[in-house]
Amino acid sequence: MTSEEFVRELDEGNQAILKRLAPDDTLKPEVEGDLNVLNLLKVALRNEIEATEIAARWQVTTNDVDVKMAFARQAGDEAKHYRMIVDRLRELGFDAAGFNPVAKGYGPLFQYLDTLKTTVERVAAGQFTREAIAVVKNRQFIEFCERAGDKVTATLYRDVIEPDEHFHHLLGRSLLLRFATTPDDQEAARRAAARTMSLAEEIQLAALKTAGIHHAPGC
Ligand SMILES: [Fe+2]
Ligand SMILES: [Fe+2]
Repeated sequence: MTSEEFVRELDEGNQAILKRLAPDDTLKPEVEGDLNVLNLLKVALRNEIEATEIAARWQVTTNDVDVKMAFARQAGDEAKHYRMIVDRLRELGFDAAGFNPVAKGYGPLFQYLDTLKTTVERVAAGQFTREAIAVVKNRQFIEFCERAGDKVTATLYRDVIEPDEHFHHLLGRSLLLRFATTPDDQEAARRAAARTMSLAEEIQLAALKTAGIHHAPGC
């Protein structure tokens, strides 16, 4: 199939899974308990630092100018999100100076993404799929913030972070159209996207079991 047909098929498959990953009936903010905006923003810091670093690692291991600059753009945006979330956490009463979100090591999705060596797999997994997940998770998180009465955090996500993550997804889309042209490349991209989706589902299930978290923001 053409890369246009391939990207359409991959997108439809991803969107179907995302409906399962982000059910609408789980938005119950517990403003008094542990499940609050502040704690979810700490989870977000971890996601942002991992997204920054994977894009930075990939940025220096490609010679293609468009790919290099797409990862550079993403790394810069994710680092900007990190700083904005640190600023918001300070307003909420948490000083993130000296806080290292990856002190206990990188998560399973980061470790998987770090094994990917080809551009077609990297953009299918790290941009096209991971960022599609982020958009859904962030829309859910915005709703959560609204219900918790935190308009400032909701606005930060609605006006800046979510549009950036959507742009990263579109960067992945344009690169997939260029690189997913042969049956082998399409199969590799399909596999990388599927693994990313299933890791995201596993991570969400684990967060739900251990911390009751349904809707940590994505990246
Ligand atoms: Fe992103
Ligand atoms: Fe981000």
